[in-house]
Amino acid sequence: MMRKEFITRSPEETISLAEKFGKYLHAGDVLAYLGDLGAGKTTFTRGLALGLGLKDLVTSPTFALVHVYGQPPLQLCHFDMYRISDENELETTGFYDYDLKESIFAVEWSENILSALPASAIRLTLERISDEERRIILETKEAERFADFRA
Ligand SMILES: Nc1ncnc2c1ncn2[C@@H]1O[C@H](COP(=O)(O)OP(=O)(O)O)[C@@H](O)[C@H]1O
Ligand SMILES: [Mg+2]
Repeated sequence: MMRKEFITRSPEETISLAEKFGKYLHAGDVLAYLGDLGAGKTTFTRGLALGLGLKDLVTSPTFALVHVYGQPPLQLCHFDMYRISDENELETTGFYDYDLKESIFAVEWSENILSALPASAIRLTLERISDEERRIILETKEAERFADFRA
Protein backbone atom coordinates (compact mmCIF):
# COMPACT_ATOMS: atom_id res chain seq x y z
CA MET A 1 0.00 0.00 0.00
CA MET A 2 1.30 3.44 -0.93
CA ARG A 3 0.23 6.42 1.16
CA LYS A 4 0.68 10.09 0.26
CA GLU A 5 -0.54 12.99 2.32
CA PHE A 6 -1.35 16.53 1.17
CA ILE A 7 -2.52 19.69 2.90
CA THR A 8 -4.62 22.20 0.98
CA ARG A 9 -5.36 25.70 2.25
CA SER A 10 -8.30 26.71 0.08
CA PRO A 11 -10.95 25.11 -2.14
CA GLU A 12 -8.90 26.30 -5.13
CA GLU A 13 -5.87 24.34 -3.88
CA THR A 14 -7.99 21.22 -3.53
CA ILE A 15 -9.32 21.68 -7.06
CA SER A 16 -5.79 22.17 -8.37
CA LEU A 17 -4.54 19.05 -6.58
CA ALA A 18 -7.47 17.04 -7.91
CA GLU A 19 -6.91 18.32 -11.44
CA LYS A 20 -3.35 16.98 -11.35
CA PHE A 21 -4.54 13.74 -9.78
CA GLY A 22 -7.12 13.27 -12.53
CA LYS A 23 -4.35 12.96 -15.10
CA TYR A 24 -3.18 9.75 -13.38
CA LEU A 25 -6.57 8.07 -13.68
CA HIS A 26 -8.06 5.98 -16.44
CA ALA A 27 -11.25 4.09 -17.21
CA GLY A 28 -11.74 1.24 -14.75
CA ASP A 29 -10.62 3.20 -11.71
CA VAL A 30 -12.76 3.37 -8.58
CA LEU A 31 -12.00 6.30 -6.32
CA ALA A 32 -13.39 5.76 -2.83
CA TYR A 33 -13.77 8.94 -0.77
CA LEU A 34 -13.77 8.72 2.99
CA GLY A 35 -14.56 11.77 5.07
CA ASP A 36 -17.31 13.83 6.64
CA LEU A 37 -19.76 16.35 5.29
CA GLY A 38 -17.89 19.46 4.18
CA ALA A 39 -14.53 17.70 4.00
CA GLY A 40 -14.20 18.56 0.31
CA LYS A 41 -15.20 15.43 -1.61
CA THR A 42 -17.40 17.25 -4.10
CA THR A 43 -14.86 20.06 -4.43
CA PHE A 44 -12.15 17.48 -5.16
CA THR A 45 -14.39 15.85 -7.79
CA ARG A 46 -14.79 19.25 -9.46
CA GLY A 47 -11.02 19.36 -9.98
CA LEU A 48 -10.96 15.73 -11.03
CA ALA A 49 -13.40 16.47 -13.88
CA LEU A 50 -11.15 19.32 -15.03
CA GLY A 51 -8.14 17.00 -14.98
CA LEU A 52 -10.05 14.52 -17.12
CA GLY A 53 -10.84 17.25 -19.63
CA LEU A 54 -14.55 17.33 -18.78
CA LYS A 55 -15.96 20.83 -18.95
CA ASP A 56 -19.24 20.42 -17.06
CA LEU A 57 -19.46 21.92 -13.60
CA VAL A 58 -19.57 19.16 -10.98
CA THR A 59 -22.35 19.52 -8.42
CA SER A 60 -23.25 17.31 -5.47
CA PRO A 61 -25.20 14.18 -6.45
CA THR A 62 -26.94 14.19 -3.06
CA PHE A 63 -30.45 13.92 -4.50
CA ALA A 64 -29.84 12.11 -7.78
CA LEU A 65 -27.40 9.64 -6.10
CA VAL A 66 -25.25 9.76 -9.24
CA HIS A 67 -24.19 12.37 -11.76
CA VAL A 68 -22.46 11.31 -14.96
CA TYR A 69 -20.09 13.60 -16.83
CA GLY A 70 -18.75 12.95 -20.31
CA GLN A 71 -19.49 9.75 -22.20
CA PRO A 72 -17.84 6.43 -23.06
CA PRO A 73 -15.04 5.59 -23.54
CA LEU A 74 -14.39 7.88 -20.59
CA GLN A 75 -17.20 9.02 -18.36
CA LEU A 76 -17.01 10.15 -14.77
CA CYS A 77 -19.69 8.59 -12.55
CA HIS A 78 -19.93 10.60 -9.34
CA PHE A 79 -21.90 8.78 -6.65
CA ASP A 80 -23.21 9.88 -3.27
CA MET A 81 -23.80 6.86 -1.02
CA TYR A 82 -24.87 8.88 2.02
CA ARG A 83 -28.28 7.21 2.21
CA ILE A 84 -27.20 3.79 1.00
CA SER A 85 -26.86 1.11 3.63
CA ASP A 86 -27.04 -2.24 1.84
CA GLU A 87 -26.41 -3.86 -1.52
CA ASN A 88 -30.08 -3.83 -2.57
CA GLU A 89 -30.18 -0.08 -2.18
CA LEU A 90 -26.89 0.14 -4.02
CA GLU A 91 -28.62 -1.21 -7.13
CA THR A 92 -30.86 1.86 -7.20
CA THR A 93 -27.83 4.13 -7.67
CA GLY A 94 -26.73 2.59 -10.95
CA PHE A 95 -23.52 1.35 -9.35
CA TYR A 96 -23.92 -1.96 -11.18
CA ASP A 97 -25.27 -0.46 -14.43
CA TYR A 98 -22.49 1.81 -15.60
CA ASP A 99 -19.76 -0.03 -17.44
CA LEU A 100 -16.65 0.46 -15.32
CA LYS A 101 -14.45 -0.37 -18.33
CA GLU A 102 -15.59 2.95 -19.81
CA SER A 103 -15.88 4.88 -16.56
CA ILE A 104 -14.14 6.29 -13.56
CA PHE A 105 -16.25 5.91 -10.43
CA ALA A 106 -15.81 8.60 -7.77
CA VAL A 107 -17.74 7.50 -4.70
CA GLU A 108 -18.67 9.83 -1.85
CA TRP A 109 -19.61 8.12 1.44
CA SER A 110 -17.92 4.94 0.32
CA GLU A 111 -17.84 4.11 4.06
CA ASN A 112 -21.39 2.86 3.48
CA ILE A 113 -20.54 0.40 0.70
CA LEU A 114 -17.06 -0.82 1.61
CA SER A 115 -17.91 -4.47 0.95
CA ALA A 116 -19.04 -3.62 -2.60
CA LEU A 117 -15.83 -1.79 -3.53
CA PRO A 118 -13.20 -3.61 -5.59
CA ALA A 119 -9.98 -4.43 -3.76
CA SER A 120 -8.20 -2.19 -6.26
CA ALA A 121 -10.17 0.90 -5.18
CA ILE A 122 -8.04 4.01 -4.69
CA ARG A 123 -8.81 5.54 -1.32
CA LEU A 124 -8.91 9.27 -0.70
CA THR A 125 -9.51 10.35 2.87
CA LEU A 126 -10.37 14.02 3.38
CA GLU A 127 -10.15 15.62 6.81
CA ARG A 128 -11.11 19.10 7.88
CA ILE A 129 -8.24 20.72 9.81
CA SER A 130 -9.71 24.23 10.00
CA ASP A 131 -12.18 26.34 8.01
CA GLU A 132 -9.87 26.49 5.02
CA GLU A 133 -7.40 23.65 5.59
CA ARG A 134 -7.87 20.05 4.55
CA ARG A 135 -5.70 16.97 4.88
CA ILE A 136 -6.06 14.70 1.85
CA ILE A 137 -4.63 11.20 2.11
CA LEU A 138 -4.16 8.99 -0.92
CA GLU A 139 -3.90 5.22 -0.40
CA THR A 140 -3.38 2.89 -3.33
CA LYS A 141 -1.99 -0.51 -4.13
CA GLU A 142 -0.47 0.92 -7.30
CA ALA A 143 2.64 2.62 -5.96
CA GLU A 144 4.28 2.81 -9.38
CA ARG A 145 1.46 4.54 -11.16
CA PHE A 146 1.27 7.33 -8.58
CA ALA A 147 4.98 7.57 -7.77
CA ASP A 148 5.35 10.97 -9.51
CA PHE A 149 2.10 12.44 -8.25
CA ARG A 150 2.66 15.60 -6.26
CA ALA A 151 0.81 18.83 -5.50
N1 LIG B 1 -9.06 23.44 1.47
C1 LIG B 1 -10.34 23.22 1.12
N2 LIG B 1 -10.63 22.20 0.28
C2 LIG B 1 -11.91 21.93 -0.06
N3 LIG B 1 -12.97 22.61 0.37
C3 LIG B 1 -12.74 23.63 1.22
C4 LIG B 1 -11.42 23.98 1.62
N4 LIG B 1 -11.49 25.04 2.47
C5 LIG B 1 -12.79 25.33 2.57
N5 LIG B 1 -13.56 24.50 1.83
C6 LIG B 1 -15.02 24.55 1.76
O1 LIG B 1 -15.51 23.37 2.35
C7 LIG B 1 -16.71 22.95 1.67
C8 LIG B 1 -16.49 21.55 1.10
O2 LIG B 1 -17.71 21.14 0.57
P1 LIG B 1 -17.87 19.85 -0.33
O3 LIG B 1 -16.76 19.78 -1.33
O4 LIG B 1 -19.26 19.86 -0.84
O5 LIG B 1 -17.64 18.69 0.75
P2 LIG B 1 -18.21 17.21 0.80
O6 LIG B 1 -18.56 16.79 -0.60
O7 LIG B 1 -17.08 16.42 1.39
O8 LIG B 1 -19.40 17.26 1.70
C9 LIG B 1 -16.97 23.96 0.57
O9 LIG B 1 -17.87 24.91 1.06
C10 LIG B 1 -15.59 24.57 0.35
O10 LIG B 1 -15.67 25.89 -0.13
MG1 LIG C 1 -20.34 16.04 -1.40
